[in-house]
Amino acid sequence: MKKLETKLLLAMLMAIPILVGCGTGRDYTPPADASGEQIFSTACTECHKPLSANVAMILSEKVANKEAIIQKFQSGSMRMPAFKNIQGESADRLAEYILANSQVNK
Ligand code: HEC
Repeated sequence: MKKLETKLLLAMLMAIPILVGCGTGRDYTPPADASGEQIFSTACTECHKPLSANVAMILSEKVANKEAIIQKFQSGSMRMPAFKNIQGESADRLAEYILANSQVNK
């Protein structure tokens, strides 16, 4: 009996990362010289498929500023992972790229 219980417990523990899924963080660290576009296409397009060559994302009005975009990708949300290692100039370049290449939804 003990063995079966241990196996069940292990199975339950292993299911946790799957359930938490996108809410967990990502360890991706951009190279120091990566452009905003390069960071976006490496770290973000898995979920945010660009709509066209010039439209990387559709942003809601309240997120359409640099501070809010940086806050969003550094902190994440229920459905989006946090990218804690995109910091400093890389964070600036990524946010500037998104702002310059997004449609704002009013
Ligand atoms: C695993 C999927 C996933 C990845 C990877 C991902 N996102 Fe997201 N993102 C989401 C989801 C889902 C939402 C919508 C829900 C929400 O706002 O929390 C979202 C919302 C956003 C928003 C807010 C849009 C709005 O108008 O409210 C921004 C900005 C954003 N993501 C930027 C990024 C950036 C930058 C990256 C790459 C560093 C990234 N995301 C990577 C899933 C992802």
